Amino acid sequence: MASVKLTIEEQRMFDGEAGEAARESMEILVALGRIYGAQRMVPVTSVQVSGVSYKTIGEAGLGYLKGLAQKGAKARVPAFLNPAGMDIAQWKEMRVPEDFARKQIEVLDAYASMGISKTCTCAPYFIGIRPKRGEHIAWAESSAVAFANSVLGARTNREGGPSALAAAICGVTPYYGLHIEKNRVASLVVDVKCGLRTIADFGALGSLVGKLAKNRNPAFHGIKKAGEPGLKVLGASMAATGSVPVFFVEGITPEYAIADKPEIIAITDKDLEAERKAIDSGLKPSLVTIGCPHASLEEIKEVAGLVAKRKPTCEFWVCTSRKLKEDADRLGYSGAISAAGGRVVADTCMVVCPLEEMGYVVTGTNSGKAAAYLPNLCKQKVAFGDLEDILYR
Ligand code: F3S
Repeated sequence: MASVKLTIEEQRMFDGEAGEAARESMEILVALGRIYGAQRMVPVTSVQVSGVSYKTIGEAGLGYLKGLAQKGAKARVPAFLNPAGMDIAQWKEMRVPEDFARKQIEVLDAYASMGISKTCTCAPYFIGIRPKRGEHIAWAESSAVAFANSVLGARTNREGGPSALAAAICGVTPYYGLHIEKNRVASLVVDVKCGLRTIADFGALGSLVGKLAKNRNPAFHGIKKAGEPGLKVLGASMAATGSVPVFFVEGITPEYAIADKPEIIAITDKDLEAERKAIDSGLKPSLVTIGCPHASLEEIKEVAGLVAKRKPTCEFWVCTSRKLKEDADRLGYSGAISAAGGRVVADTCMVVCPLEEMGYVVTGTNSGKAAAYLPNLCKQKVAFGDLEDILYR
């Protein structure tokens, strides 16, 4: 296995001179570096830590975090969290079981004691955490990784929970994979011959291309227009169905690098329609969840405008970050949404909260990522479609 060359400061951490937590963390990073052939570490400017929902980490994860906190773990670089298992302020109204809530609060407190911000979001780029092109970061949530690499041009591998936390504590990550320019190439070119009119279209395209990518990075040709909401859903959906960590869109993303002799595939309107049908149960949802990845303020405004005109026929949530929920509260969007029977939900999402324990059976979404995860992780049947379809089905 390759040896990873450490700086004096990194070696100090590795030798335990900066405390036990830093020693353990550097050991994780060095082991990872050896596995992936990294020759050195690279400093990171921000870290997104995953493994936040008590639903996904359980008692073992909570114990690990508490242990690390007791050993004096402290983040050296700005770090924030992936969505948690509940809205920290509204969990009672949302019928989150009390035992779960207590454990979730312990998880968040353990992270906070390490100096990690309790900002729990998968769309940090909507609240000012926007690394620049070429900036090295260590993010863990798959959709945020895809967005940061592809839309912002930042550089991150898809970190696991322990490696992201170790990067926060040590301020570095092994230099391999997508941190290196030559690895940021696409070997699958997708000729987009279908129309992309709605977010659900981007979700279905991502869902389909993720399945076809088979460990290849895709590059899209023929997408004439795509805003950040469409691109975040495209990336999130490919990350969910195909673990895609970076993609390129010709004329839109900052990078567009194609490998020699890529495979070229075309996606037509017929293909897109077939994918939409395949992931939609056709059932009427009892809950519609919007904001996978977390909604921008513009998206919240759009939902508020839509439901103010016509009240949905089911319960609905708009999932977002705490900061944007506060903005939505102030601007009256949350009021319009609750007047129509909905709720702006912060800190969490439809997949990482215990939806199945809250009495829901059929959940609506316009995201290919939520559609991919809801059946297995939340035992939900999925109603997939455009907002006007799923909200009034
Ligand atoms: Fe974010 Fe949850 Fe979707 S973490 S990307 S809203 S599944």
